Amino acid sequence: MTVKRNTMDIFEKAKKERRKITMVTCYDYSMARIVDQTSIDSILIGDSVGMTMHGYDSTLPVTMDEMVLSTKAVVRGTTKPLIVADMPFMSYQASFEEGMHNAGRLIAEGGANAVKLEGATPATLMLIKELIAHGIPVVGHLGLTPQSVNEFGGFKAQGKEMEGVAELLAACEHYADIGVKAAVLECIPAELAKHITLTFPFSTIGIGAGPDCDAEVQVIHDVLGLSDRTPKHAHNFVDGKSVLGKALQDYDDAIKGKTFPTADNSVHIDPKVISDAEDYLDGLYDSLMDDNDFLDN
Ligand code: KIV
Repeated sequence: MTVKRNTMDIFEKAKKERRKITMVTCYDYSMARIVDQTSIDSILIGDSVGMTMHGYDSTLPVTMDEMVLSTKAVVRGTTKPLIVADMPFMSYQASFEEGMHNAGRLIAEGGANAVKLEGATPATLMLIKELIAHGIPVVGHLGLTPQSVNEFGGFKAQGKEMEGVAELLAACEHYADIGVKAAVLECIPAELAKHITLTFPFSTIGIGAGPDCDAEVQVIHDVLGLSDRTPKHAHNFVDGKSVLGKALQDYDDAIKGKTFPTADNSVHIDPKVISDAEDYLDGLYDSLMDDNDFLDN
């Protein structure tokens, strides 16, 4: 039976039906295979890959090539979820042409179904509009946009004061006007996220934005308890670090305690084959020595 991969219209349908959409970040093939076994609707190949998988302290160093590589791996590991890939820092900010080209790479080379861009500056809005016009679905991202961490002075909640709220609402107006179908709302007050969800036609994908968004996205390392620090807005659904750490300790103990590998983990031959091989090598060696003697004479 062929399984149909979700497309961007799941957001519109689910919003109408008041059904929640789930999204989780994922960055590699083996984890993608596990996500694919679940009913999770969509995967974000987030530029958080830089922090979760490569140990950077922000998303800023992540490159287009790294995003394409991760996107390809996740696509290969899945059959069902919608695949959204992040446009990394400076892949669309420097020029409109670069933005178009790089979004195209995530779709054509990476195999993503949609791209995600942060913010709503006039240049970004123009790019989003053109991408949509050229058949590239776009997920927006407002609130705490991690690529602006230096402007915000850290990973801080946004939209807590009147000016910030007004700015966010204006950005939402722009998104709605240019046909954005879904947007991440990151670390904004729950009341504001609810208001945006009820007011605007696009689907809101919350993370640290309360319980009332149309969809929820979380970082997979937080969900699986693999992060060094779990943010307030996240929840560990398993203590992955303990579970996996124990498995690795058991592995180390088994090898050092000589209980693994066992005969059952091995392939076997009749020991006679080894003594035959030794005899064969001895014979070969002797004949080589005879040849050398002949040359010496
Ligand atoms: O890169 C990422 O993981 C994200 C989510 C936090 C929304 O952008």
